[in-house]
Amino acid sequence: MASFFLPVRRSTLALMGDLRAAVIGLGNMGANHARVLADLPGVDLVGLADADPARLEKAIGRRTIPGFTDAETLLREARPDMVSVVVPSGLHEDVALRVIEGGAHLLVEKPIASTLAGAARMARAAEAAGLILSVGHIERFNPAVQELKQRLEAGQGGQVLQIRARRVGPFPHRIRDVGVIHDLAPHDIDIMRSLLGDEVERVYAEARRHVNTDNDDLFVGLLHFRGGVQGMLDINWLTPTKERSLTVLCMKGMFAVDYAAQSLTFYENFAASAREGAIASVTEGPMTRYPVANREPLRAELEAFRDAVLGAGPPPVSAYDGMAALAVAEALVRSAEQGSPVSVQQVGGRR
Ligand SMILES: NC(=O)c1ccc[n+]([C@@H]2O[C@H](COP(=O)([O-])OP(=O)(O)OC[C@H]3O[C@@H](n4cnc5c(N)ncnc54)[C@H](O)[C@@H]3O)[C@@H](O)[C@H]2O)c1
Repeated sequence: MASFFLPVRRSTLALMGDLRAAVIGLGNMGANHARVLADLPGVDLVGLADADPARLEKAIGRRTIPGFTDAETLLREARPDMVSVVVPSGLHEDVALRVIEGGAHLLVEKPIASTLAGAARMARAAEAAGLILSVGHIERFNPAVQELKQRLEAGQGGQVLQIRARRVGPFPHRIRDVGVIHDLAPHDIDIMRSLLGDEVERVYAEARRHVNTDNDDLFVGLLHFRGGVQGMLDINWLTPTKERSLTVLCMKGMFAVDYAAQSLTFYENFAASAREGAIASVTEGPMTRYPVANREPLRAELEAFRDAVLGAGPPPVSAYDGMAALAVAEALVRSAEQGSPVSVQQVGGRR
């Protein structure tokens, strides 16, 4: 057991009886979980863990929070009620099962696990223990996506025809355990499933490896949803500038989301508004950019997780949702390997 301890000082915002929170894995993303949880009302950050003492020390910073270099000691000594699991994706299953054994509710970063079989073991263990397992599909908490979902549900665009996501940027050298499909595609697969309320039936993908690692870094994928909507994924780690965007092409126009700017625009199909029903034609109509109150998606995600723990569920994003996104990612990887379309394993379970 390698641990070091700094005296606990309960946050001045926190009240007695607050939920005891902890974070395991304090790299790029875990440090953000720690920052947000440190001043989330109703939550007391009682422990942080990272296998790397330097990362641990950096994440603790000037805060006085107990720090540990292994998950077991954190679980035993800090006794958290809720834990963010933010270790590399290949370790999610191992750490999540320890957290479940330790009796804490957990939010596991995306992808839920590096294999569907591992994700299923996590989901079964959490369910058997009566614990909430939520998955960090953070874009669901992006206010521009939430505004888009409301507008689609209100029927603003009419029938959805095609949905396309672009998620590109520079190469992240720290990620070596999974390729770009597993690392990034689950974000957009999850958003597409959530917006359409539909499942992906089959996929076709092309993937390439250009940087000298064991994993793919350049990828395009086609998704066929049960209801007939086409999905397109353009995702890579080889683009010098970062872009995260989503377009939803509908009968009556096209919505465009910039995930990073948290903006939502609608380009109206003037011909469709002139004649309801089937597309008689498509002509460029007015463009409207909607006001979206920006907020940090991670904060909204952790608030929703806290509320689920307080109210005893359901999880904001279920293990089933995490598994469904991962099943599509696995099918994309198989398709890229085989060079042919692949059916997606359908995942049963509670949403
Ligand atoms: N939701 C998002 O937008 C988002 C963004 C980035 C990363 N992520 C996810 O978060 C997870 C972590 O990604 P990252 O970019 O922060 O990686 P990272 O490599 O920057 O950080 C991982 C940390 O985990 C620590 N670690 C490794 N094994 C450990 C163990 N057994 N116990 C405790 N600590 C351990 C490492 O020392 C490191 O500090 C991944 O699953 C990734 O997919 C999600």
